Amino acid sequence: MYATATLTSLTPQFRDYSSSPSPHRLPPPFSVTFPGIHHIFSPHKLLLSPARGLRVSASSQASPASTEASKLSTVPPEMKAWVYGEYGGVDVLKLESNVSVPDVKDDQVLIKIAAAALNPVDFKRRQGKFKNTDSPLPTVPGYDVSGVVVKVGSKVKEFKEGDEVYGDIHEKALDGPKQFGSLAEYTAVEEKLLAPKPKNIDFAQAAALPLAVETAYEGLEKTGFSAGKSILVLNGAGGVGSLVIQLAKEVFGASRIAATASTGKLEFLKSLGVDLAIDYTKENFEDLPEKFDVVYDAIGQCDRAVKAIKEGGSVVALTGAVTPPGFRFVVTSNGEVLKKLNPYLESGKVKPVIDPKGPFPFSQVVEAFSYIETNRAVGKVVIHPIP
Ligand SMILES: NC(=O)c1ccc[n+]([C@@H]2O[C@H](COP(=O)([O-])OP(=O)(O)OC[C@H]3O[C@@H](n4cnc5c(N)ncnc54)[C@H](OP(=O)(O)O)[C@@H]3O)[C@@H](O)[C@H]2O)c1
Repeated sequence: MYATATLTSLTPQFRDYSSSPSPHRLPPPFSVTFPGIHHIFSPHKLLLSPARGLRVSASSQASPASTEASKLSTVPPEMKAWVYGEYGGVDVLKLESNVSVPDVKDDQVLIKIAAAALNPVDFKRRQGKFKNTDSPLPTVPGYDVSGVVVKVGSKVKEFKEGDEVYGDIHEKALDGPKQFGSLAEYTAVEEKLLAPKPKNIDFAQAAALPLAVETAYEGLEKTGFSAGKSILVLNGAGGVGSLVIQLAKEVFGASRIAATASTGKLEFLKSLGVDLAIDYTKENFEDLPEKFDVVYDAIGQCDRAVKAIKEGGSVVALTGAVTPPGFRFVVTSNGEVLKKLNPYLESGKVKPVIDPKGPFPFSQVVEAFSYIETNRAVGKVVIHPIP
């Protein structure tokens, strides 16, 4: 059904985020409409049983909580959270209602979560691919968060209760990520990983940004990308690629942007600012006569990507085997990057992209995981509202 769908709307549209607490009128995010797409994930009963037994203690990960942390009386001791106690498929995910609300360390804030987003690292981590460097099970998954600060640690300087923030809560994506992630009602996060939520976007849109936009920015920086350079983005329609395209154009001043996607997503690529949209089902990008200063590989085709660069060009690879001169990096969460990008978001030059099947309500996190695991998502798979 999805494979035969055709992109019919490229025009940025207003989405109905009427449940958002934001008082601000929202800018139009990029919106893609596929015939019938909203019916694929029609609500149905979840087969998850209610929380029973598994109780997760936050004290196993947190250092002693700051006694000076200011507290909102409304923060309960327990919360709803998605939890897995063993690695595996989506069936290991359980919705629990008695998970301890994490304590805050001195440099952390407690966020009442409004929205979260999934990234491929969430399912790869859940599958146990990073078990050697992971935090101990059980795990509350989720990297991306947006929400409201409800408690601050004693050394927190920038944020106060009531502030609207967003960020990627795990400083190192693969190396000791927190046990208590963003698929929950509350999460504790170092203030340096957060930024004020841009005023013109709502919580769902803000959650669609952090890990992907920080990856996009860090990768471009690492290639030395600068004004006047050309770039080819492999997987331009996904969460990271859709932001690489926008940052390359609006923040770095790219002279020319090419990107790959399947047939139905080529017009979407053009709406993001792509000059040359390459249908990977019909053409091999490395066989084209045109070569690029940089190839940003967000799909795992580094061996082919190195054939598409000019002499002295760079290839940055997010996943898969690396072929020299290509290089790989793993994103570091950094609130300063978000703060740097906030003006571009607030001016509407860079826009969050939310997959049209979402946002998925908190009760449908299993469906959201199943969807992102198809490797067909456009932009970000967002979870909203929470709970
Ligand atoms: N190293 C890091 O720090 C880091 C950070 C973030 C992400 N990553 C990794 O980078 C990869 C991309 O992440 P993401 O969040 O952007 O993924 P994503 O949003 O899940 O990507 C989905 C998109 O991939 C496209 N796609 C699938 N096969 C393709 C192909 N052969 N050529 C071009 N596009 C193709 C699909 O478009 P079609 O339907 O048109 O095929 C779909 O729109 C993942 O492997 C992720 O784990 C690494």
